[in-house]
Amino acid sequence: MNLGVVVTSVTCKLLTFGMAGSWFTTSSVFVVILSVLVLALVTLENTKHKGEVVEYRSRGWMRECVVWDEENKRFLVSNMEGGVGEIRLRDGDSAGGGLREETVVRDLEYLGNATVGLQIDPARNRLLAVITDSIGNRYSALAAYDLKTWKRLYFTKLSGPESITMANDVDLDPEGNAYVTDPKQNIIWKVSLDGSTVSVLSSPIFASQSSKLPFKGIGLNGIVYHPDGFLLVVHTFSGAIFKSSLDGGDVSVVNISSPMFMGDGLALLSPEKMVVVASLSTRLLESRDGWKSAQLTHRYVGPMHRLATTATIKDGKAFVNHMFGFGFGNGKHIITEAIFKSLGVPSYT
Ligand SMILES: *[C@@H]1O[C@H](CO)[C@@H](O)[C@H](O)[C@H]1NC(C)=O
Repeated sequence: MNLGVVVTSVTCKLLTFGMAGSWFTTSSVFVVILSVLVLALVTLENTKHKGEVVEYRSRGWMRECVVWDEENKRFLVSNMEGGVGEIRLRDGDSAGGGLREETVVRDLEYLGNATVGLQIDPARNRLLAVITDSIGNRYSALAAYDLKTWKRLYFTKLSGPESITMANDVDLDPEGNAYVTDPKQNIIWKVSLDGSTVSVLSSPIFASQSSKLPFKGIGLNGIVYHPDGFLLVVHTFSGAIFKSSLDGGDVSVVNISSPMFMGDGLALLSPEKMVVVASLSTRLLESRDGWKSAQLTHRYVGPMHRLATTATIKDGKAFVNHMFGFGFGNGKHIITEAIFKSLGVPSYT
């Protein structure tokens, strides 16, 4: 018997009781709402997913970002409680059960902060990790670790208690410069190859798009380096996508067929196709003019209740990370392959 059934039967009993007085009526209404929520959760949880599903157990509840490490055949996930975990796939058992997250980074240098955006730098055998004070918004940093030994290669503070920041995502260019977004100030920090220098990419255009919500909140978020030598970055609350040169001197708004509202993680499937993960659904944007404009062509809806955050490319396919794990002690987390459905856009089949 699952939890939903138990809650429903308790609700019925309470409802019968509840007729007796108003206190009971109020609490009954509350229980009904609660059980509807639990039932919805259980239903969503039991829905079969198409495509590959990587299910793993973890001691933590919230995992913000995933990257696929092709060289070492593992996923790396960032821990909201701080640190990085690996999910190592076994031979011929990519989607099998019994996978566990093992902690590979737990760094005392920034204890109390969350680890959010991750990016692998395969050419230099290192992982870049964004560190941020996700609750107080008073600290942001970038760290680099050796992918084999997990020795820290650099640790660069981006901002301290003097300003409100919340560093989020990172990508890098072929020279090894890292680009880190700040959704609070709507800027991008550019960190040099060895972490020794930081410059700021800022443009009035980054803040020119109005929020679709009655408050500001989250601006520049997911970022990718495009092989033609520019950056693409999404603004979460407005749904705008920006194209920026590597020094921030040339920024434009990509003309898209529909806003990518709540857009979070970005990943390039090819130079013309970009995956945009947006909380409740994941979209595919295609551009035929070097990202002056782009068309929404496909959509994928996964386990919504787990909240999709970011995507990574494995074997030419997009895999979506979900923020929330469920269960006590050893919560279950899932990374799902995005099976895109065409939206039937005529010129982009
Ligand atoms: C984040 O790390 C910095 C650097 O060690 C530290 O000063 C700050 O207190 C930490 N923030 C939180 C919320 O623990």
